[in-house]
Amino acid sequence: MQRLDKLLSEAGVASRKDLKAMIKAGRVTVDGQTARTPEMKVDETTARVCVDGRLVGRQRTVILMLHKPAGYVTSTDDPRDQTVMELIPDQYRYLKPVPVGRLDKETEGLLLFTNDGQLAHRLLAPRSRVWKRYYAEHEGQAGQEDVEAFAAGILLRDGERCLPARLMPQGPGRSLVEVCEGKYHQVRRMLASRGMPVTYLRRVSEGHLDLGDLPLGQVREVEPWELWGETEIL
Ligand code: URA
Repeated sequence: MQRLDKLLSEAGVASRKDLKAMIKAGRVTVDGQTARTPEMKVDETTARVCVDGRLVGRQRTVILMLHKPAGYVTSTDDPRDQTVMELIPDQYRYLKPVPVGRLDKETEGLLLFTNDGQLAHRLLAPRSRVWKRYYAEHEGQAGQEDVEAFAAGILLRDGERCLPARLMPQGPGRSLVEVCEGKYHQVRRMLASRGMPVTYLRRVSEGHLDLGDLPLGQVREVEPWELWGETEIL
């Protein structure tokens, strides 16, 4: 058994606060009877719950893109630091989106959130070959040998081997890097292993999706086709 307002908020109908008003206004029925209180207990496996006469389906999937500023940790909860969750607008919170992968505290850029576990897994699995592109500022200048080392698979200083990646030098102290996996501090460690410590890092795209002109600290909703291209059906 579950509280009616909890069931409806998890189904993505509205926030708990709005639901209270909707129930009071007589817009919600349970098995044909008008519900009177948000606390009413319903059996979520059998009850036919309708809002304005329409049967409530399962929780709606949401995908969000944040332009993460530096200074926020990618975590749902942290005793010391501000978390990326604080940047999610209230209107999405009841859908319970969580970050897909992570960006370091000091890294800026594109961070996805979703409440769809399968989608998150698909985006993160290296075999899905979802390429993540980073703009990096670093010491030194990347050259052809570095490009080849990235393409062959960088051996990190701790002996861990990365999958083949792409390095595109952009002039002194600036490069684009593309990787299709997400090891801890990966891009920083890859460039450091070639003697080019990173001073600034921003993720600019993930799969087909890029940051575009989304302002720093802002969130927007993403349609599934934006991730995979228009032809692929989820
Ligand atoms: N690689 C890093 O080093 N840091 C990030 O935040 C993401 C990729």
